[in-house]
Amino acid sequence: MRTKMVAGNWKMNKNLQEGVALATELKQAVKDPKCAVVIGTPFIHLATVAELLKGSPVKVAAENCADHEKGAYTGEVSAEMVKSTGAEYVILGHSERRQYYAETNEMLAEKVRLALQNGLKVIFCIGEVKEEREAGRQNEVVKAQLEGSVFGLSAEEWKQITLAYEPVWAIGTGLTATPAQAQEMHAYLRELVAKNYNPQIADDTTILYGGSCNEKNAAELFANPDVDGGLIGGASLVAEKFLAIIAAR
Ligand code: PGA
Repeated sequence: MRTKMVAGNWKMNKNLQEGVALATELKQAVKDPKCAVVIGTPFIHLATVAELLKGSPVKVAAENCADHEKGAYTGEVSAEMVKSTGAEYVILGHSERRQYYAETNEMLAEKVRLALQNGLKVIFCIGEVKEEREAGRQNEVVKAQLEGSVFGLSAEEWKQITLAYEPVWAIGTGLTATPAQAQEMHAYLRELVAKNYNPQIADDTTILYGGSCNEKNAAELFANPDVDGGLIGGASLVAEKFLAIIAAR
């Protein structure tokens, strides 16, 4: 049976001291969660927070990694560097990276390859923009994103992948997808995974929902059979809210 998960994505929020304070609160409160708990933090927090959370069920994720192994790429952080901090996960394919930093499916395929090669698990984000949803094109958009970056992985490699469906129109907007919209898309994604791999692998794949998921709507979203948890932005920045979402899973 697949793992349920609640993952936070701090984005570019919290300085080091604030991040340590939040991670400390989570460490104290999360002892035996019903689901896996991950926090995605800026690079500068990773080593400190991973050390702080040693032995805690709360795991740490980077929010990005480079599409090159090493070398003269000023300002970039490699998958190997992320791994060396004690982080276990990396979030890749987030719509903000695709939109503001022009990350393409091909670049993301390379990032995924390097992450897996370095022993990181990947939370891979996909999702359509508002115009695509309005044109009824959401299914073809997510299919192309999966085919372009991750469906070439072997079945063995796929075990390290968690999918996160994040409709771009729902991210940070307060326009959460309805539970029915989330369920419909998650069922479709599972069907695609079954076709590309097999039904058992699809059944074992964790698929998170992200996009204005908060302590008020999480339980209703997570109650859907194909919604295995959430990737949480804004509401992951406040311990009380994030803990309520973890409890809803
Ligand atoms: P949000 O962000 O919860 O603030 O909408 C979700 C995400 O981008 O992962």
